[in-house]
Amino acid sequence: MRNTSNAYAKINISLDIIGKMPDGYHELETIMQTVSLHDEISIECLPGNGVSVSTGVPYIPDDERNIAAKAANAFFRHTQISGYKTQITIKKNIPVCAGLGGGSADAACVFRMLNKMFDVGLSTETLETLGNSVGSDVPFCIEGGTKLARGRGEILTNLTPIVHSDIVICKPAFLCSTQKLFARVNCGKIRGRPDTAGLIKAFDEKDLGGVARRMYNVFEEVLPYGKRQDVEAIRNTLLESGALGAIMTGSGPTVFGLFDSKDNAENAFDRLKEEYEECYLAATVNGLPGK
Ligand code: C5P
Repeated sequence: MRNTSNAYAKINISLDIIGKMPDGYHELETIMQTVSLHDEISIECLPGNGVSVSTGVPYIPDDERNIAAKAANAFFRHTQISGYKTQITIKKNIPVCAGLGGGSADAACVFRMLNKMFDVGLSTETLETLGNSVGSDVPFCIEGGTKLARGRGEILTNLTPIVHSDIVICKPAFLCSTQKLFARVNCGKIRGRPDTAGLIKAFDEKDLGGVARRMYNVFEEVLPYGKRQDVEAIRNTLLESGALGAIMTGSGPTVFGLFDSKDNAENAFDRLKEEYEECYLAATVNGLPGK
């Protein structure tokens, strides 16, 4: 039994950190959007046992530590299906450790694919609950689109889908540890916060400019100085090229710009790729193709 599918990246249109929970994790309020940049996943299930993953990327684990393998194991445990040797092959196009939810997208895609391959008909809600057991952004990636996520990312509300727009995605070379960035956040001292209510209204009114103007990620405030300069430089290039707004996604370091003109997006992409290796031209996606 074999199947192939695409795993789509996400961007955070806004990201607010509400507070620290008793277990030390942080409560978030974030609007997420699926974009067309995607990994390509193929799954083969043959008689036997065990789950393995190959990505061709040396530092991504190929055993149970891989989030895609965790998803497969969670699916088989929940459905009590056994007796299959599962090989997951992932062509990584989404940059790794970038704030684009690449691992979560892969895990969500594995849940969707196995649900279809074994024809067990698990509901979206069940897949989201299983997804939450393997990673914070996985529940969003099960269905994707435009959603408000709360808690650790598992409390989801559908929003009016974003107006179709072009996106330029650019990852600077530095690494951002999610854990270290969270440790730098002092919830009482956050200077600015996204206007989530205003964003939701702008989505309802199909006001792309209103969405772009309100995009805000509180993680940018706690970036170390040099890294903030890099993010600022990418943002400036995107805005100079006509982006309606540009912010860092997730815990970074990737920056994206939202465009209402494909020509402007292509121009921004051409300028950025002279300086940065990892640049992508993408677009918003509402509803996962071939879900
Ligand atoms: O989700 P991920 O494994 O990337 O998170 C890395 C670290 O970031 C966690 O171990 C935790 O310290 C911190 N974190 C947090 N609150 C969240 C998500 C992550 O404090 N909602």
